[in-house]
Amino acid sequence: MRKLWNLFANKNEAIETTLTVDQIKKEQIPGHIAIIMDGNGRWAKKRSLPRVAGHHEGMKVVRKVTRLANQLGVKTLTLYAFSTENWKRPKPEVEYLMKLPEEFLGTFLPELMEENVRVEMIGDKELLPAHTKKAVEKAMNDTKDNDGLILNFALNYGSRAEILHAVQKVLQDAKKGKIDENNLDEALFSSYLMTKGLPDPDLLIRTSGEIRLSNFMLWQLAYTEFWFTDVLWPDFSEEHFLQAIATYQKRSRRFGGV
Ligand code: FPP
Repeated sequence: MRKLWNLFANKNEAIETTLTVDQIKKEQIPGHIAIIMDGNGRWAKKRSLPRVAGHHEGMKVVRKVTRLANQLGVKTLTLYAFSTENWKRPKPEVEYLMKLPEEFLGTFLPELMEENVRVEMIGDKELLPAHTKKAVEKAMNDTKDNDGLILNFALNYGSRAEILHAVQKVLQDAKKGKIDENNLDEALFSSYLMTKGLPDPDLLIRTSGEIRLSNFMLWQLAYTEFWFTDVLWPDFSEEHFLQAIATYQKRSRRFGGV
């Protein structure tokens, strides 16, 4: 069944077996790539390791993918690192996940600086543990003048909450006379979202065989190209990333036109 689905999902999109950076068309690099990094728990389970070992391995993949995205000239990479629903997980797992940004940034911030990467975040920062918030804020501040890749972490992010919050702000601003409700269009509404100033993703990647959005960027993904793979996030390699981009480059984007 899985094979059949893959055939269906990849119809007209023959996947190359070995791909190198040189085979990617430089003039058609997706400006914004968003990734739902899924399958860390299953990766660990397959190896009889605790789930958190999968998250740790997944963190290393974040570093690899960031480096390659920057090298390719991707402008923004948004990574779904922790959703508003992930608080439901066992406390030790949540605590571990909340330590990962610190470990990642503690280890790699000097390299990210060297590579001119700017760290950004979407999600409700106020509800993060103080140590996580501090690490993210430091990285955002240290990298604020960098003009290479924007590495945008979605942390404590939920798209429905984001949209609801935007609606509340729009209503407040209309009441205060700051905006005229008759002028509310998609561009103005987008400026009330956490992704304000960022273009919508061109390509969404989700690993681990799950075919759903899980409350991720519901507004912003309206015309995004989707690429799903059965590969578990800790096994996601540079070559998988190139495959996703190569597939994207074969798609015809019509944005509802012909
Ligand atoms: C989903 O896999 C993954 C997460 C909820 C966490 C993703 C986090 C990382 C990849 C590391 C983030 C790194 C930084 C730098 C913040 P899952 O645990 O739901 O996997 P499963 O479906 O197999 O159980």
